[in-house]
Amino acid sequence: MRDSRETCLTKAFVAGYPIRHSRSPLIHNYWLSKRGIEGSYELKEVHPDTLAQFIGKMRSGEERFIGGNFTIPHKEAICRLADVLDPVAEEIGAANTLWIEEGRIHVTNTDGYGFAANLDSTYPQWGMHKKAIIYGAGGASRAVVQAVRDKGYTEIHVLNRTVARAQELSDHFGEKVFAHPLDALGELMKGSGLFVNTTSLGMKDDQVPDIDFTQMAEGALVTDIVYVPLKTRFLSQAEEQGLATVDGLGMLLHQAAPGFEKWFGQKPDVDEELRTIIVKDLEAH
Ligand code: ATR
Repeated sequence: MRDSRETCLTKAFVAGYPIRHSRSPLIHNYWLSKRGIEGSYELKEVHPDTLAQFIGKMRSGEERFIGGNFTIPHKEAICRLADVLDPVAEEIGAANTLWIEEGRIHVTNTDGYGFAANLDSTYPQWGMHKKAIIYGAGGASRAVVQAVRDKGYTEIHVLNRTVARAQELSDHFGEKVFAHPLDALGELMKGSGLFVNTTSLGMKDDQVPDIDFTQMAEGALVTDIVYVPLKTRFLSQAEEQGLATVDGLGMLLHQAAPGFEKWFGQKPDVDEELRTIIVKDLEAH
């Protein structure tokens, strides 16, 4: 029999395959308990073959969720399964946040919001420059390119090992975005105000090349979307050379906020206590 409380609980989830290592429940459950909201946020392992069925059950109400997050490998597939894509998800072609409105499945992508909101709160002057370098052109890079363009950058250089992928981004996002091979980095650094690593290289320090950040503009920022480890070799090199740096954990925390607000009706705070909880969890695993 159903627990009588279950019917009045607002329930959300994070779905992926695999999903065990997601930190999203830690974040949302911290906000739920801090605000005393009667709600739950759970891990949901959904195999790609059953994703369409799962979305169908949400639409019909058989799965009693108000919404949820989607992570690897579902971010593109849910765009095809949703009824309504907002302009952000539409442009990126991938989504991570879902909610139900009048029986219809809506999706958006909050990764770019999380990226920008993190820099807005830790290094607000990041928006005063025009020239940015985006290192990598994989799935994660698209949201970053969109956010950097929307912040007002007018010269966005995307460098990638496979130049064709950088070219795809340039074709997709238009005239402000330029494609290059990785070895163009040296000449592009001069006068740039922002460097973002979006590749998985930050996770394996031995693969990160030596980089000279000293030609960047006055007040330039170096950031990484990787947060394991927190201080990647991109960031430690930049720090040693006297540049300002911001790590990738804040992006993870901030990207969670819009979903929480949609489902539970309150705008949550990304505070030091939350960051400490996640840092401890990262250290423990
Ligand atoms: P994600 O969705 O996390 O961005 P992805 O789509 O597989 O993952 O992209 C990974 C990024 O890291 C790509 O930019 C990839 O470069 P390629 O497109 O050339 O594969 C980059 N990357 C991964 N390993 C790399 C390596 N050893 N050297 C240089 N770039 C690497």
